[in-house]
Amino acid sequence: MSNSQTQSRRPLVAGNWKLHKTLGEARELVAALIAELADGALDAAGPEVVVAPVFTALSSVRDALRGSPITHAAQDLHWEATGAFTGEVSAPLLLDLDCAYVIVGHSERRQFFGDSDEAVRKKAAAALQAGLPPIICVGESLEQRQAGDTETHVLGQLRAALEGLDPEALARVVIAYEPIWAIGTGHSASPEDAQAVHAAIRAAVAADHGQALASGMRLLYGGSVKPDNAATLMAQPDIDGALVGGASLDANSFAAIVRAAAIRE
Ligand code: 13P
Repeated sequence: MSNSQTQSRRPLVAGNWKLHKTLGEARELVAALIAELADGALDAAGPEVVVAPVFTALSSVRDALRGSPITHAAQDLHWEATGAFTGEVSAPLLLDLDCAYVIVGHSERRQFFGDSDEAVRKKAAAALQAGLPPIICVGESLEQRQAGDTETHVLGQLRAALEGLDPEALARVVIAYEPIWAIGTGHSASPEDAQAVHAAIRAAVAADHGQALASGMRLLYGGSVKPDNAATLMAQPDIDGALVGGASLDANSFAAIVRAAAIRE
């Protein structure tokens, strides 16, 4: 526990809107969120707050967030900067839209769109090379958990994604542990189970890249984070914030999760 040095890591709460919200709805949600958090939860000492809308809403969300400390992120990217890649979006284009982060390797990308460990590694490396910090997602299926393979699988995904990155790049990486069986199910991992995997992730980063880097790396938990479980999850020594899906689509519930992160400090 003493190695986790939670104080040095600023909590991060990110809302992954997935495939939701029209432009009008996105602007409305941002306005409501800013109003909800006007109570000081967003001051410089508080948690960092990020929202990740669909690509088409990034520009509108950026404009709606202007003047607010909340930043915006993209949900995916392609590893090539430009070229004949119909339908893709690259890191330089996301930076052009002032994105603060990009989510990489979400389980829905891996499951439904075939993103392999190798693709995740290339995406993370391309984002970092362009100067865009990735939020790299890892997580096991229910079958893998039941077979006792959680750590093997999660650490395998982690090591595959971080392979070849230099220390300076690694220092900008955020990891999100999202057990697939907890995503969108209403059944979050218990704080103890989530903490155990977070501790294993931090230990693996320490073993591979040194304790200092591991102690500074932010590890988010994702999977049915709600206002009523956020505080206990984020009170765990190695859980530095949350990647929130469903509950981030509502200003009131997302703001409550942000407040839970503020208490953690
Ligand atoms: P839910 O919070 O809806 O379970 O989604 C989690 C998630 O996938 C965030 O990326």
